[in-house]
Amino acid sequence: MSCPLNRNSDHAVGEENLCNHEAGMLYGEYLMLDKILSAQRLLSQENSDPVHDEHLFIVTHQAYELWFKQIIFELDSIRAIFSEVLEETQTLEILKRLNRIVLILKVLVDQVMILETMTPLDFMDFRNYLRPASGFQSLQFRLLENKLGVKVQNRVKYNTNYMKVFGHDKKALKALNMSETQPPLSELVEKWLERAPGLGPGEFDFWKKFQEAVEQLLDEQREIAENEKSEAVKKYLLNDVRKREEVYESIFTREIHDALMMRGERRFSHKALQGAILITLYRDEPRFSQPHQILNLLMDIDSLITKWRYNHVLMVQRMIGSSQFGTGGSSGYHYLRSTLSDRYKVFVDLFNLSTFLIPRAYIPRLSTSIKRQLCLWQNGDDSSDGEKFDKNV
Ligand code: HEM
Repeated sequence: MSCPLNRNSDHAVGEENLCNHEAGMLYGEYLMLDKILSAQRLLSQENSDPVHDEHLFIVTHQAYELWFKQIIFELDSIRAIFSEVLEETQTLEILKRLNRIVLILKVLVDQVMILETMTPLDFMDFRNYLRPASGFQSLQFRLLENKLGVKVQNRVKYNTNYMKVFGHDKKALKALNMSETQPPLSELVEKWLERAPGLGPGEFDFWKKFQEAVEQLLDEQREIAENEKSEAVKKYLLNDVRKREEVYESIFTREIHDALMMRGERRFSHKALQGAILITLYRDEPRFSQPHQILNLLMDIDSLITKWRYNHVLMVQRMIGSSQFGTGGSSGYHYLRSTLSDRYKVFVDLFNLSTFLIPRAYIPRLSTSIKRQLCLWQNGDDSSDGEKFDKNV
């Protein structure tokens, strides 16, 4: 890109003009600023009733849409990497891009504050002009939700038919349909977790060992409770152990896990959940450290989107109160508040992992040979890959 600043600047005097216009593009041309900077059409002004804050309202929304575009761009590239068998060398690139999404989302969460410098009275001055336009019609926001893994059946009732607002816009409908049918990030991560090394019976057989460790932990806690002299404390402690048993049963008994999945309370398959617990417990092992960082970033994405939803709801309440309908036709504040639930978190299982963790002292030890076996992220047939690795050692 040519340097536009050089053309008329003092620095250029007497120097060879390396930023010759003919030699390349100018800053404004490259960034198509003529388009972007002339895209702020103030409806209040067109109606001969200019309202100062409408400019901020438009620029803020446009900035959001540009960042949504960048997030989708990163997300698509991450999904493409995940959709192949993930090579170890690609994890760093995934981490870099996920981290970028997280940083952008942090900016988006904070950006709400700038718009909040507009008062409800200021907003009222031009709100009528923008009807029926609403963020509800943000195509990119819906694509983002779908590509992450928000499922139609998990959307709140008012929003299950979210495509309706796009009417006959064929391009938008095609993009939305594709985003619903192509595997979202959540599904690709699920498949990746299912392949975590160490899960197969021919290898470390983590799940069996983890179950034994949990049983040992609960047995010891039960024994402590039984030996308690005070009847009240004993009752309390035994009750606590029973509750812990129930919690673990929900992961060790496949049928309970599947029932929770059917109810939408759990999203990952049984095998993927095992992979996630394995990675979380052994995150200090070099083999699992980057996968563990990936899991953390995925949770960050979920939390930041929830934080954005929350900040947006608060702003909406401040601007239009809790009883006015939105320009998009929803109940406004009440509809938006209902989207704050876990139904919209795509990696909710990762948040809940902490329920199943056990103290470090109980985590099954990895022998040297198992550590060596763990060096390959398995693809498909566990045993054959394990053998292949052994031969190479
Ligand atoms: C004065 C500021 C704002 C007000 C009063 C406001 C109001 C609303 C309301 C009432 C809705 C519910 C749908 C409806 O009936 O219209 C909504 C949805 C939405 N708004 Fe805003 N909004 C504001 C700023 C923004 C900004 C800056 C963005 C950034 C892109 C945004 C993005 C969205 C999105 C994506 C939805 C759909 C959310 C969902 O369905 O989960 N809004 N907004």
